[in-house]
Amino acid sequence: MVRKKMMAANWKMYKNVAETREFFREFLPLVAGHERDEIVVCPPYVDVPAAVESVKASQVAIGAQDVHWKDEGAFTGEISPRMLADVGCTHVIVGHSERRQYFGETDDSVNLKLKAALGHGLTPIVCVGEVLEEREAGLTEDVLRRQCARAFHAISAKKAAKLVIAYEPVWAIGTGKTATPEMASEAHVLIRGEAAKVFGEDFAQQLRILYGGSVKPENAKALMAEPEIDGALVGGASLAVKSFVAIVKY
Ligand code: 13P
Repeated sequence: MVRKKMMAANWKMYKNVAETREFFREFLPLVAGHERDEIVVCPPYVDVPAAVESVKASQVAIGAQDVHWKDEGAFTGEISPRMLADVGCTHVIVGHSERRQYFGETDDSVNLKLKAALGHGLTPIVCVGEVLEEREAGLTEDVLRRQCARAFHAISAKKAAKLVIAYEPVWAIGTGKTATPEMASEAHVLIRGEAAKVFGEDFAQQLRILYGGSVKPENAKALMAEPEIDGALVGGASLAVKSFVAIVKY
């Protein structure tokens, strides 16, 4: 089964509108004609319209970093999936560990957001991953199983068709510590197994599971060489054109 890899940038809370435009002005010519991998960039909400406009004539897709599960309502500060689709977002990150750690994201809200994103035709990139204490306590498998089972709850394989997962061990995010390709692969096998339980074996074989956590130009090639790793979700190294291009072209 050949799965097209997805190379996704998560800009987190970096770059304003002018910096967004400047990034794409430099970036797009360098990835023109690059069809081997799918390229997705997820800027902060306020940069999304500029990003969408910038990539209009290219193969690059734009995603958001979070989404609410309702279409509209009295939810101050939130952005709905309908709004994202309306401005030209095609992808959205759901359940990033920083949302879970700092902003009260739970397995249940991840499930609601995932359903909402799928309902609006967005491609959700659902993040799962253990924290250091969990890994050291031997709980990685339990944590991944729980996060997957709760995220996938009450979703049909048909509805979930666009689902993408990102395995992001929290201890590897922004720390310069990368999971070895073997460690990541092991986690991906487990996640694929959980997906197979809920959505079936065929679905699981087509499911793309990205790795995230200190992906850099220096380690991208070895990570992407693992058949279980179907792409990358890149934070810090996606902010500079040069390093993100090097990762995309691993
Ligand atoms: P870093 O690449 O900066 O470690 O961040 C990873 C991440 O959280 C991507 O979502």
